[in-house]
Amino acid sequence: MAGADIRSLRLPRDFLWGTAISGHQSEGNNTNSDSWVRENVRPTLFAERSGDACDSYHRYAEDIGIAARLGFNCYRFGIEWSRIEPNQGFFSNAELDHYARVLEMCCAHGLKPIITFNHFTVPIWFAVRGGFEASDSPDLFAAYCAHTAQHLGGLMHLATTFNEANIALLVQFLYGAPSPAVQAALAAAAQATGSRHFSSIAFADPAIATPLMQEAHRRGYAAIKAARPNLPVGLTLTTQDIQSLGEPEWAERARARLYGDWINVAHTHADFIGVQPYTRFRVNASGIVAAPQGAEVTDAGYEFYPQALANTIRWAHATFDKPIYVTENGVATDDDARRIAFINQALDGLRDCIVEGIPVRSYIYWSLLDNFEWTSGFSKHFGLVAVDLTTFRRTVKPSALHLSRIARANRI
Ligand code: BGC
Repeated sequence: MAGADIRSLRLPRDFLWGTAISGHQSEGNNTNSDSWVRENVRPTLFAERSGDACDSYHRYAEDIGIAARLGFNCYRFGIEWSRIEPNQGFFSNAELDHYARVLEMCCAHGLKPIITFNHFTVPIWFAVRGGFEASDSPDLFAAYCAHTAQHLGGLMHLATTFNEANIALLVQFLYGAPSPAVQAALAAAAQATGSRHFSSIAFADPAIATPLMQEAHRRGYAAIKAARPNLPVGLTLTTQDIQSLGEPEWAERARARLYGDWINVAHTHADFIGVQPYTRFRVNASGIVAAPQGAEVTDAGYEFYPQALANTIRWAHATFDKPIYVTENGVATDDDARRIAFINQALDGLRDCIVEGIPVRSYIYWSLLDNFEWTSGFSKHFGLVAVDLTTFRRTVKPSALHLSRIARANRI
């Protein structure tokens, strides 16, 4: 690329530009999910409850309209297992019809739907019986995938089973064994539901849950493929940029802890992988060390480090010889100019990766809306669009218009 105007790198016509969002974080009143229970018991880890969230359950047409007017060509969202199968074995046709309308709305606006079958939350009945720590959980997840794909698969452009399949590994990597506060919050959820072991994905014991989630992924993958053989099905991982401050094996060890053997699973049971980088982790012989002195820290509490995008894409490409989708990348900030800077720097890295010949197929920003940021509540703003939590009025931020111009030009 020497001498070329690298800002004018034209991307393939089918490169996907868009935003991501999950059901629980935006829909509101996801009352049949494990998260709803954990938000509403005391003690709780949650700063506030999801409540109405952004009311996207009712306002999906407005959200999709905004994404379309911004010139994006895909829309990544999660369908809620807890709505589709509110009781074990009962699949709600009304809720399947709801999601069919959402999918049809995407297609009508020229947005290719990218569907997450599971974005962290599970139905209460599933959490109560031990979640993905119960030995028959793969059967139950596969049944949900099969039923849903039979009804909705025809409207999907891409699908993933799990969002950040390695989330429990990340939680263990960052925080070690569950703290007394985590244990107390899970115990409160168990007591409220009469469960012996209330199990949520992010706080499950990875030694037990990871092999079961992997089997669930394989079975879910097969079930979706059986319903829609041509639909590309993958999984997404939380992919932070791991940098060793010394010996290369420090980084290798950290990667082994973060990713486990999910890449091996993806080798045999994924048509693509979704990377979701937000920051970097600098590691030494004993684990993660603090961000460098004076480093900019985002509102999410970790280092502002958009270069993580290129580095994790390169890692993914070196370990996985199939297409890579950027299914999430974003920053929590109330300074929208920093969001624009983050996007620019991230896309500089994306351009380098594409020039290097890495098959990257999308840039999907997290998130369209300021939404329910899990235990942090609504105080952390990742969105391109602000939401008034009382009137639900959406306000497009300058960063949305910035990404819109890039997406429309399809050049980075
Ligand atoms: C998750 C989202 C979350 C975002 C920002 C991702 O790890 O998929 O659910 O809101 O990061 O923290």
